Amino acid sequence: MKFSFAEPDFGKKGAVAVAVAEGRKLGPAAVRLDRASSGAIARALAGSKFTGKLGELLEIPGPSGVPHSRIVLYGLGKPADLIEGKAEDLGGGLLALLAGLPDVAAAVLVDPGAGLAPPRAAAHMAYGARLRAYRFDKYRTKLKPEDRAKLERVVFMVEDSARAKREFAPLDKVADAVFFARDLVAEPPNVIYPESMAQRIKSLSRLGLTVEVLGLRELRKLGMGALLGVAQGSIHEPRVVVMRWSGGAKSKPPIAFIGKGVTFDSGGLSLKTSKGMEDMKWDMAGSAAVVGTMAALAGRRAKANAVGLIGLVENMPSGTAQRPGDIVTSASGQTIEVLNTDAEGRLVLADVLWYCIDRFKPAAMIDLATLTGAIITSLGMENAGLFANDDALANDLLAAGKAVGETVWRMPLADSYDKQINSDIADVKNIGDGNAGSIIGAEFVQRFVNKVPWAHLDIAGVAWSKKDAPTVPKGATGWGIRLLDRLVRARYES
Ligand code: BES
Ligand code: MN
Ligand code: ZN
Repeated sequence: MKFSFAEPDFGKKGAVAVAVAEGRKLGPAAVRLDRASSGAIARALAGSKFTGKLGELLEIPGPSGVPHSRIVLYGLGKPADLIEGKAEDLGGGLLALLAGLPDVAAAVLVDPGAGLAPPRAAAHMAYGARLRAYRFDKYRTKLKPEDRAKLERVVFMVEDSARAKREFAPLDKVADAVFFARDLVAEPPNVIYPESMAQRIKSLSRLGLTVEVLGLRELRKLGMGALLGVAQGSIHEPRVVVMRWSGGAKSKPPIAFIGKGVTFDSGGLSLKTSKGMEDMKWDMAGSAAVVGTMAALAGRRAKANAVGLIGLVENMPSGTAQRPGDIVTSASGQTIEVLNTDAEGRLVLADVLWYCIDRFKPAAMIDLATLTGAIITSLGMENAGLFANDDALANDLLAAGKAVGETVWRMPLADSYDKQINSDIADVKNIGDGNAGSIIGAEFVQRFVNKVPWAHLDIAGVAWSKKDAPTVPKGATGWGIRLLDRLVRARYES
């Protein structure tokens, strides 16, 4: 689908969308169409429940007097309330309706008044629309033409469309990155495994990212016994991928993103149930978010230094698999008693975090992981769990999340939890007594961050969606990229 910007033009056929503010207050474009159609909009409004609340939609089949196949009214709410994230939701909701119409082309007229400057509103509406238009159909060989959207082109019409186009350009790059990540997460686990995922990520060097892939021999040399223990049951070798973007001053230490990349989590010998395994292809969503964030930063040429490191493994049961009771030595030197092979994400993170500190001396580290089922119980799909050893970093993440609509909720860390993972036979064990599972997981990870400012995002609840949301069609969400891109913008580029 193609998205573009142009100056307002009422001569186009196809569907046209116009704004109506709360209280059924027609915007300038709506007034104009209402006049041209001898009051068709006013009549349709009078016969409907549409009041102009933000995101409300009303379709009016092509009235006489205008060339359009139909007019779609979109609710603006109180124009002063329109912020960027809301404009994106508006664009996404509108796209979903437009994509269900028989029209090939649609125009969206943007004249929101008080809130955002119209060109900025148009840019963010187009961004939201593009994010919603994502599809992953490559394995559906029998999809009928009538099941596909007819819509091919959406033009956002706004005064000073050149500015809208300029503001859209970096957002368009972030959307590319979100799509790259969604594809990785949506792909089945027989297609995406450590080697193939690393291979696919290499293609991002076209954006100016430095992409380096560490293989089995290097990981052994680095002493990543925790990560290697998880990988040893699989026929697929593990990989660690290191991505670098240097858009900032040479002397500035980078911000680091670390991702859990378990391309399939069977649980290992602590085997999951069939039901519990169904979703486990997306246990690499943390790493996909890191890849996407790096792609977004490179794509929009961010003026900051960032590194992204991901640990890619497949967690399988087999004759070579790690056993409950095994003790492994991590890259940090700390020994770990692996009592449950299904608590594998933290083992992967432990080694990658340690390596990141050792090699890059980062200013701060943020890890993303589908770490625990317990975070879904706690927070559902509405928030990711945030754990941090640094209040300023935590607060910046809370603020960035609100701004982009990828919200996080801070959870506690404390010595009283930490002591539950002391092992009787090694330095640390990989599970607690079963309670407070997400906190225990975070405490384990914290043992490998060595006091570097750090935040951990448990994204098990937000990585995959079973229903459509305004800017996220159901399926792989690409959660975290918009959040981290925003964090970099706010914390490292200003
Ligand atoms: N990948 C899972 C977490 C998960 C579970 C994500 C369900 C999404 C949906 C993780 O590796 C895991 O298995 N965690 C265990 C930890 C437990 C063994 C301490 C869990 O949450 O049950
Ligand atoms: Mn697991
Ligand atoms: Zn897992």
